[in-house]
Amino acid sequence: MYRIAVIPGDGTGPEQVREGLKVLKAVARKRGFQLETITFEHGGGYYLRTGELLPPHVLEEFRSFDAIYLGAIGHPEVPPGILEQGILLRLRFELDQYVNLRPVRLYPGVQTPIAGKGPQDIDFVVVRENTEGLYAGSGGFLKRGTPDEVAIQTSINTRKGVERCIRFAFEYCRARNRGRKVTLCGKTNVLTYAFDLWERVFHEVGEEYQEIARDYAHIDAICMWMVKNPEWFDVIVTDNMFGDIITDLGAMVQGGMGIAAGGNLNPEGVSMFEPIGGSAPKYAGKNVINPLAAICAGSMLLEHLGEAGAAVQVEEAVKQVCAKHIKSLAAGRMGFSTSEVGDLVVSYL
Ligand code: IPM
Ligand code: MN
Repeated sequence: MYRIAVIPGDGTGPEQVREGLKVLKAVARKRGFQLETITFEHGGGYYLRTGELLPPHVLEEFRSFDAIYLGAIGHPEVPPGILEQGILLRLRFELDQYVNLRPVRLYPGVQTPIAGKGPQDIDFVVVRENTEGLYAGSGGFLKRGTPDEVAIQTSINTRKGVERCIRFAFEYCRARNRGRKVTLCGKTNVLTYAFDLWERVFHEVGEEYQEIARDYAHIDAICMWMVKNPEWFDVIVTDNMFGDIITDLGAMVQGGMGIAAGGNLNPEGVSMFEPIGGSAPKYAGKNVINPLAAICAGSMLLEHLGEAGAAVQVEEAVKQVCAKHIKSLAAGRMGFSTSEVGDLVVSYL
């Protein structure tokens, strides 16, 4: 029996999570384990109703779960920054989910915008540092609103934070056992302090993994290579900001937001799994959003719980649905409704 905290959130989040839970519960039944889910209403809608983002007692409660399953946070009537910082980033930081793991995998039947590349070429993961860098909130204003104003936003890179993220990347690469290569993505030619630290730690930790090749690419160049030669990559490790950017690029390379999933991991604590697309308010409540990203996030959640067989079973079912049924990953163009896609995945378990 596993206890899962569910945060359906805003926009299409609830519909995606509903289908994800349908699949998770079905695979649990087949494999003889149980999922106890407790739903939390937090998100933009809840904030507008109650003025509450994420009170300390709720945060404490989350610590007692085996995992968190998140739909999407974001509301058109809430100014940018409030929900991101007050809920999503707060969860990542407070629960010390120091790795954001984002697989970029093209499934058969899914169309990539990259001509001439297929599933054998597009199969890598990005290990994004998830608690530091430019996201740490370090900085401030001087003379704000005057002609003399100064705005400072500092990238925080700690030895501990960089090392645990890089070590995770090498461990993950070893366990994955595919290309046996970790690529550090940075900007050592300009950000000569932050990425000096990253580069030193990368090679120091990498020495412990003799069977794994080490490679390096600047952030701008990797945007080019991810499109031109995605087959070069196995595991990419990078900081929070660069990781944010290249994982949206990665989502497009693997066919779109309709399939892109991620895990915010604290290997020693509570981790959180989410489709990486936003709340897509214009599609909310229409039963047209693609739930496969949430279902793939569910597969990652199962793997994290130690239910590797169930995780593979879900991923294989998603592959079948992509290969045999879905016309497009885009909302409203799948050829099926949101709930029908969930049912299809269940039928292949
Ligand atoms: C993501 C999102 C978030 C981020 C936003 C919503 C704060 O873009 O999960 O990638 O920047 O990390
Ligand atoms: Mn992002």
